[in-house]
Amino acid sequence: NKKAFIFDLDGVIVDTAKYHYLAWQKIANELNIEFTLEHNELLKGVSRVRSLDIILELGKVEAAQEDKDRWLVQKNEDYLSYLVDMDESEILPGVFTILKFLKENKQPIALGSASKNARPILEKTGLLPYFDAIVDGNDVSNAKPDPEVFLIAAKLLNTKPEDAIVFEDSVAGVQAANIGNMTSVGIGEAAILHEAKYIFEDFTEIDTNFIKELINN
Ligand code: BG6
Ligand code: MG
Repeated sequence: NKKAFIFDLDGVIVDTAKYHYLAWQKIANELNIEFTLEHNELLKGVSRVRSLDIILELGKVEAAQEDKDRWLVQKNEDYLSYLVDMDESEILPGVFTILKFLKENKQPIALGSASKNARPILEKTGLLPYFDAIVDGNDVSNAKPDPEVFLIAAKLLNTKPEDAIVFEDSVAGVQAANIGNMTSVGIGEAAILHEAKYIFEDFTEIDTNFIKELINN
């Protein structure tokens, strides 16, 4: 069967999860809300709007919509300021090798991200030509763990969900892949991503034989 390889963006392809964290931490600090790295796991894969709500819930803060709107703008401006000088050096280790291998083997590749900043990031890092389809935060109405983003991506690649392989660094994203009946590959800590079918610390741990097996399965 024809396979589809779907990649999350932040924390999988590029090292941007840290910038999201820094930008949210500033907002949390201003509001005197404790926001640790552990809390941050709850935000991975989650939309910008929902992320702010989670932070406010953590601090038991109720806020007016106009304040929320202001913080959302502030967060994104701050986040984007970290990306100004972004180039291919921000591609996470091992990612390029796998993307190249998939391309050489004529495998369909899609992006499945919650971010509304996905396209400029792929452009800046020079990775745009590797993607046959891009599904991002502008295209979906249901956030991960809803599988919508990955289902759309599989469909655009003319592949059945059960033939799609999803690379994810977030718990919500791994769950979305599983709920969508796809093969989930967790990138990160096994203790956090234990629901994934396969788990690797990063892409340097993934060898091309593993990818070959996925292609031929
Ligand atoms: C996800 C990130 O990829 O995108 C989240 O894991 C982020 O941390 C979400 O909140 C939305 O991104 P953006 O760029 O639209 O704020
Ligand atoms: Mg991610």
